[in-house]
Amino acid sequence: MGFGSVDQARITTAISELARNIYLYANQGRIQIEEVRGSGKNGIRIIASDEGPGIKDIRNVMEDGFTTSGGLGAGLPGVKRLMDEFNIDSELENGTVITAIKWLR
Ligand SMILES: Nc1ncnc2c1ncn2[C@@H]1O[C@H](COP(=O)(O)OP(=O)(O)OP(=O)(O)O)[C@@H](O)[C@H]1O
Ligand SMILES: [Mg+2]
Repeated sequence: MGFGSVDQARITTAISELARNIYLYANQGRIQIEEVRGSGKNGIRIIASDEGPGIKDIRNVMEDGFTTSGGLGAGLPGVKRLMDEFNIDSELENGTVITAIKWLR
């Protein structure tokens, strides 16, 4: 798509963190990768979804260092910083959908 190597590294790191979370907290799910074409703005959208336990307090998990697994708690805040747009949609006991976009500059 024309992303530079630094952005490519940001995108692959974000995908890896989201996939690691799915594996750790929901056991299984999917990563969808799609091209976004906007008016004068193109990018890549990553959708990580699962039918796992869901996230109780989304504000908590966006704080650096918050973890329920003894991890670093750096994954989701990191993904938010690495990408341009970031959204969590999660319902307890029903699952989680995290969407992130990186725009092509
Ligand atoms: N897909 C998910 N389903 C349910 N809970 C999740 C999911 N992804 C993240 N979480 C919750 O959000 C917390 C924060 O996630 P985050 O990736 O930021 O840190 P972490 O996985 O604990 O540590 P690491 O820094 O190794 O990624 C997790 O500890 C977990 O409780
Ligand atoms: Mg994580």
